[in-house]
Amino acid sequence: MVPFGERLRVLIYTGKGGVGKTSVSAATALRCAKLGHRTIVISTDSAHSLADSLDMPLTGDIKNILPNLDAIEVDVIHEMETRWKEIGQYLSDFMESQGMDPISAKEMTVWPGMELMSALFYIEEFKISGKYDVVVMDTAPTAETLRLLSFPDTADWYFDKMYKMFKNTVKLARATVGKVMSTPMPSNAFLDDLDQIRDRMKEVRIILQDSQMTSVRLVVNPEKMVINETKRAYTYLSLYNLTVECMVINRLLPEEMRDHYPQAKYEEQSRYMELIEESFSPLKMLKAYQSTTEVVGQRSLEVLAEQLFGDIDPAIVFTTEKSMEIFSKNGVDMMALKLPFSSKDEVELYKTNDVLIVKVGWYKRSVALPYSLVQKEAHKAEFKDGRLLISFK
Ligand SMILES: Nc1ncnc2c1ncn2[C@@H]1O[C@H](COP(=O)(O)OP(=O)(O)O)[C@@H](O)[C@H]1O
Ligand SMILES: [Mg+2]
Repeated sequence: MVPFGERLRVLIYTGKGGVGKTSVSAATALRCAKLGHRTIVISTDSAHSLADSLDMPLTGDIKNILPNLDAIEVDVIHEMETRWKEIGQYLSDFMESQGMDPISAKEMTVWPGMELMSALFYIEEFKISGKYDVVVMDTAPTAETLRLLSFPDTADWYFDKMYKMFKNTVKLARATVGKVMSTPMPSNAFLDDLDQIRDRMKEVRIILQDSQMTSVRLVVNPEKMVINETKRAYTYLSLYNLTVECMVINRLLPEEMRDHYPQAKYEEQSRYMELIEESFSPLKMLKAYQSTTEVVGQRSLEVLAEQLFGDIDPAIVFTTEKSMEIFSKNGVDMMALKLPFSSKDEVELYKTNDVLIVKVGWYKRSVALPYSLVQKEAHKAEFKDGRLLISFK
C-alpha cells in the first residue's frame, strides 16, 4: 500500500445497478473527510441518489455539506447552460432549426454519459487548482460508464468528426451567401469551445491512466449475474488501460445472522464467493455486510465505512499494478494476467464462448474476453516477469 501524499486521488466506483455504488461512494467520502482529506463526492449517474444516500439536498453545483466534504450531482442540462454555454446554445439552435421544439432540442444536446464527461472535466480542474485531495466518483451502471471511460481514447476521432461537420457548415454557409440559410452558423466561441474540449480530453486521459492517481473499484454483490457483468467490466477497464485496484463485495450475509437467513442462502453465497475469487483474484477484496436497516444518512454510512476500511485510509493506493492487460505486440494480441504465483506447472487454457479459463495446477482463473478476442484462439501461455502472458491468434 502506498500513501497518496500530495497527489490528487481519484476513486471511481463502478458496477451493476443496485449493488451499492452510491452507498459505498458516500461512505468512502465521509470517511476521507473525517480523516482530514479535502474531499468531493461526485455523482455521475443521471438517476442520482447521492443526496438520498447522504440524506442531504444536493444540486448540479458544488456544495459544501460537511467539514472537508463537498458534493455535487452533475446535471448535464445545467452544465450545458453554464460551463458549455456556446456548445449547448449552438446544438440546441441546430436541433431547433431541424424542426425540433425548443425543449426537446435542449434535451437532445445531452448525449449518453455526458454526466461522466463533465465530471472528468471537473477532475481536470481540481488537479490544476489543488482544491481537493480526494475525488470520489459514484458512476452510472457499468455499460454506460465503460463506454465513457473509453471516451478519452476515442475523443480525437469524435471531435475530428464534430469539428469537420461544423467547419463544413460554415463553408456551406459562405458558399450560399444570399440564399436563405436554415442552419444556424456556429460562432467562433463555439469552435473555440470544441478546441478546448479536445485539449482537455487529453489531460483527462493522462489523469485516468495514472495509476498513482486514479483507481477503479468494482462493486459487486454475491450474485451470479452481478459477478458475470462485473467480470466483463473488469476486462474492458483493463483494455482501456485503467487500473482496477480492488473489489468491494457488498451485501454479504453476516455470520452472526445465520439464524436470520436460510442455510441455503449461505451455501449459495460461498459458491459465489468462489466465483468472485476465481474471476478477480488477486485483486484486494473489501467487504461489507447486508444491513437489516436502510443504509441512509451519515450514521449508517459510517457503519458501512467501518466494515469496508476498518483502520485503513480509504484514499490509500492499494496497488498501482495492473492485474490484467490486453495489448498487441508485433501484430499478436496478448493478454497479461497477474497471478498469485509463477509456476513451472503446465498451463491449460479453455475457451467457452466469451470466457477464457486458465488452469495452472490447482489454480483456476476465469476471464471474460473482449469482443475482439472472442473469435480468436488462445494458443500459447507462458510465465514472464510474474505474469502469465497469453497469445491469441
Ligand atoms: N450493505 C447494505 N445493506 C443493506 N442495504 C444496502 C446495502 N448497500 C446498499 N444498500 C441499499 O441498496 C439500495 C441500492 O444501493 P445504492 O448504493 O443506491 O446502489 P447503486 O448506486 O449501485 O445503484 C439502496 O436502497 C441502499 O440503501
Ligand atoms: Mg447509484
